[in-house]
Amino acid sequence: AINGFVAREGRRVGVSTPLNSALATLVESMNQVDAVPGFKRVNSVKHTGVLTVPSAPAVLSSVAEWKKHRATLKSSHPGRTIGFVPTMGGLHEGHLALIRAARAQCDYVVVSIFVNPKQFAANEDLHAYPRTLDADCAKLEGLAHAVLVPQPDDMYPEDFSTSVTLTPFLKGKVEHERRPMFFNGVATVVAKLLSAVSADAAFFGQKDGLQCAVVRRLVRDLSLPTD
Ligand code: PAF
Repeated sequence: AINGFVAREGRRVGVSTPLNSALATLVESMNQVDAVPGFKRVNSVKHTGVLTVPSAPAVLSSVAEWKKHRATLKSSHPGRTIGFVPTMGGLHEGHLALIRAARAQCDYVVVSIFVNPKQFAANEDLHAYPRTLDADCAKLEGLAHAVLVPQPDDMYPEDFSTSVTLTPFLKGKVEHERRPMFFNGVATVVAKLLSAVSADAAFFGQKDGLQCAVVRRLVRDLSLPTD
């Protein structure tokens, strides 16, 4: 509470109090973890030490760039945990709550922004999907350490041949019958992202119930190394 007070007073009188602001944000995010609807605390991931969140997140434009960045992070800060929040951009309060939850439980937070073509059917307008990268990066300032923004041909090169399907699991599920591309497309991109990012824990909005169930099954079936 004292850090929040100092940060607010600092803002009021125009004095910069970065350490108090950082501590106030951290305490606030720790308090909010259980307030995220349906949020389940990850048990096996523990904070080992807070890593200062930069004023602007590092932007990594390809999986290769992220892997280099991750290797540097792991060698400069051994043992620190990574939390991952996958998104398609258009960040809103729901995403920000997930990012705060990730920060409360992990030392370092990376957000991905990728509009996944595989979860759009031919009759759904992939190109009309809102892309708001600058506004999204502004929302991540002081909140996430890094943002991964891979390009479509990085994720799906021309000869891409491997897809994930959860055939018996999805059979008969109304949402799947209505949008047969969607959940298998989500499963394919999430498998790729989880394996590329190689985080300790990933955070998904629980309001998308079937999506969460698909991700849990995918992680179990493919033995993906993320909580
Ligand atoms: O929920 C979403 O935003 C997307 O389905 C996800 C999980 C980022 C995969 O593209």
